[in-house]
Amino acid sequence: MVYNEITKILFTNEQIQKKVAQIGAQITNDYRGQKPLMVCTLKGAVTFFADLVRQIDTDVEFDFVAASSYGNGTVSSGELRVSKDLSSNPRGRVVILVEDIIDTGRTLSHLKENLLYRGAKEVKICAFLNKPSRRVVDVEVDYCGFVIPDEFIVGYGLDYAERYRNLDYIGVIDTNCLKD
Ligand code: IMP
Ligand code: MG
Repeated sequence: MVYNEITKILFTNEQIQKKVAQIGAQITNDYRGQKPLMVCTLKGAVTFFADLVRQIDTDVEFDFVAASSYGNGTVSSGELRVSKDLSSNPRGRVVILVEDIIDTGRTLSHLKENLLYRGAKEVKICAFLNKPSRRVVDVEVDYCGFVIPDEFIVGYGLDYAERYRNLDYIGVIDTNCLKD
């Protein structure tokens, strides 16, 4: 399907998969024998998570959390809402938070703080995309796919108003088309 509002392809699926394999290899090396709890942040990171875990060649466990600091628009509200918590206890665990994109940093800094408060031994952040120019809250990104400029992007799990998550590439969307 062709979307006219997508003005540029930022990363093709081939470029994405190459990068995911590199991150998977890094995590394999760093966590061999530690059985980290891989936490996927719903919904945006689902696609990245599914690809990433298949590139990790050591024991891991999965968990899922749904938190957002966004409404349906493109500007962060600054509020964090947790609509689905982990099903496992993070106490004493090595946790790797897997996120689609870090924008203001609010979501991940809140989540990381929360997991440490609940007794996680270590919390690392793995974000496929990083928009450092938009950062409001300082947060360390331990594993990062690509650093991108301040443009609104969709695809590979990322949405605008719940659309475009299923695209297998990452594209820039024309914000003028988003208004209607
Ligand atoms: P943060 O708390 O501002 O870092 O927000 C991160 C969340 O904002 C991500 O998990 C995305 O859901 C969303 N987000 C930030 N930038 C974009 C974008 O360019 N496209 C789609 N979603 C985005
Ligand atoms: Mg989102």
